[in-house]
Amino acid sequence: MYQAELLRGQTILITGGGTGLGRSMALRFAELGANLFLAARREEPLRNTAEEIRRRGGAAAWATCDVRDFAAVDAMVEKAQKEFGRVDVLVNNAAGNFISPTERLSPNGFAAVVGIVLAGSFHCTLALGRRWIENKQPGTILNIVTTYAWTGSAFVVPSACAKAGVLALTRSLAAEWGRHQIRLNAIAPGPFPTEGAWSRLIPSKDYEERHRNRIPLGRFGRHEELADLAVYLVSPQSGYVTGECVTIDGGQWLRQGGQFSDLLELPPEVWEEMEKTRRAAKR
Ligand code: HXC
Ligand code: NAP
Repeated sequence: MYQAELLRGQTILITGGGTGLGRSMALRFAELGANLFLAARREEPLRNTAEEIRRRGGAAAWATCDVRDFAAVDAMVEKAQKEFGRVDVLVNNAAGNFISPTERLSPNGFAAVVGIVLAGSFHCTLALGRRWIENKQPGTILNIVTTYAWTGSAFVVPSACAKAGVLALTRSLAAEWGRHQIRLNAIAPGPFPTEGAWSRLIPSKDYEERHRNRIPLGRFGRHEELADLAVYLVSPQSGYVTGECVTIDGGQWLRQGGQFSDLLELPPEVWEEMEKTRRAAKR
């Protein structure tokens, strides 16, 4: 799909880059020639992913960091710059989430998710954006949100609030920082199987099946599909795209929003029957 060296010479910093979709994006970016810097709280997944990138011939380094702590983020960005000379792209992918009836949430539960997703994305954006502006260096930011950033969703209120905020951050700074040649875009994924999301959000096999059945394309997303979309948005090929959010969800959110979408559950015989009744009534 892309030229083999499309991202050669670019350094990409990706939060949450040791697991799930972050790892998949990191491996794909590296395959196309980018240097990868991975950041998250746990050492083990970061080390594993960095080793995998190097094993495949790429360049990767990592640092542990809790994105809720601005000082830690600033030190992590400094380390990334030292390691590769410069950072060209930031992917705000780290997230925290769980399902809970909202009345059962504690303020700390709300703060944990909003702290990771919204404050964390802001911290990384600020730490890099300041450097880019000071050095008169262009930069690209890709934020990973989700479709309930604009629809909202029951039982994931902290995450919905935070992702809506990240989308607002994307659009606001696209307008404010365009003059510094800093682009910001977002991807809104539907369901993509990962350990992190599935263990916290999909409570049973039965629910997983029902979830899948409500996706018009009839399946969950494949990591490589999301990774290739991310490649486009971080590459110079999308140089005139900023403030945009691209949905990749097999049609899920539109299916959920349409008032008559549940008619998809009607078997063909029922449509036949209704058609017959309508024609008979006409005569
Ligand atoms: C209610 C919960 C809870 C739960 C934690 N809390 N889990 N409340 N239901 N299931 C509360 C705790 O009781 C505590 O409040 C507060 O949240 C902080 O919990 P800690 O465990 O101390 O926090 P921390 O170690 O910082 O962990 C953060 C976390 C955790 C978000 C709670 O799940 C995490 O580390 N997640 C990272 C990875 C992740 O979530 N990946 C999924 C992304 S998927 P009290 O008051 O008791 O102190 C995603 C998909 C979106 O975003 C769209 C899908 C379609
Ligand atoms: P994941 O594997 O759990 O990814 C979350 C990552 O964030 C982990 O690597 C985690 O590493 C890191 N992280 C969490 N808290 C952190 C903190 N305080 N500081 C630094 N890093 C932190 O789940 P995923 O499914 O791949 O999710 C990746 C992104 O896609 C998220 O933004 C998520 O909201 C989004 N998304 C996923 C889906 C889906 O269906 N999978 C759908 C829509 C959107 P540590 O625990 O080591 O810190």
